[in-house]
Amino acid sequence: MASEQQMKNPLLVGRAIRAQLEHEVPQDLPLERDFREDSDYTITDHVQELHKSLCKDPRTLELITSLVSHLHAFARETQLTHAEWTKAVKFLTRAGKESTDYKNEFVLLSDCLGLSALVDEINHPKPPGCTDGCEPGPFYTEDAPTLPSGSSLAKPGTTGESMIFIGSVKNLKGESVKDATIDVWQADGDGVYDIQYPDREEPNDRGKILANPDGTFSYRGILPTAYPIPSDGPTGDFLHALGRHPHRASHIHFTLKAPGYDELTTALYPSHSPFLGTDPVFATKKSLICQLTEERDSKRWAELGFKEGEVRGGRVWVWKYDFVLPTIEQVEQVKAARAQKSKQ
Ligand SMILES: [Fe+2]
Repeated sequence: MASEQQMKNPLLVGRAIRAQLEHEVPQDLPLERDFREDSDYTITDHVQELHKSLCKDPRTLELITSLVSHLHAFARETQLTHAEWTKAVKFLTRAGKESTDYKNEFVLLSDCLGLSALVDEINHPKPPGCTDGCEPGPFYTEDAPTLPSGSSLAKPGTTGESMIFIGSVKNLKGESVKDATIDVWQADGDGVYDIQYPDREEPNDRGKILANPDGTFSYRGILPTAYPIPSDGPTGDFLHALGRHPHRASHIHFTLKAPGYDELTTALYPSHSPFLGTDPVFATKKSLICQLTEERDSKRWAELGFKEGEVRGGRVWVWKYDFVLPTIEQVEQVKAARAQKSKQ
């Protein structure tokens, strides 16, 4: 195998290949037929034959065989032009060059093609009756404080309208789930996450809430608003070309953990949010959309835990939701049934 140093010098690469051939002759395939589009042995057949003969890993072979099959079918179905192929290559090259640690254009592209949501659906099947899941997105952090139920997650001065979230964690039998932790993270009233502020000193609008022994919990905070995904790169151009916008519907992210239960990562959306039906990353499942109410009685604000002068805008948004978790065993049963079905 040529070293990195050798790869930079064509003369050294040639020498390395000749040296290698002195010790081992790679397996070759007899070229018995030309592969032509108008024959019964196309380039697709030849690529698949080559991989089948040489690839040692069964899963790699399965994935690439299917990928080649679909890619070639796509090119034939659309009669892909060379100019379109060149444009696609330039687009993907740009996606690679413009990706950073904080903005991966390939992940964004996968999200906007609905692939991320599909892979999540395939990998986290839920028994009927359980809360649906969705992707966590890029704004989760590990440093959120662990807090008792009833805490406030918003630091004083956080932009936005007051909100209280009142929830419970139950199982499929309707029983309270014990020792549940609800990891919450959300944007503020400007649609901005704390880590997007350059002067962030400590976590804001996020926390790990410990549920009460009966599975109930609440937290006070700020009503999040819609925000755009990064659209200054190729993924933004992709959305624009398709007549789509980059704005995510308002939402709160949750990850729920409890002993014996399958971990759930999801997000909830208020029904009044714009962009629910045109969410760019296809995470707005209908079952996750919640109808909020408003509390305008200032006496009730104190009962809900808000301090004097804390409520702004003359109302508190009340957001209620009952999460339903499957046990680990119930999820394994769904996975086994699905695997069985895919073999048939
Ligand atoms: Fe988000």
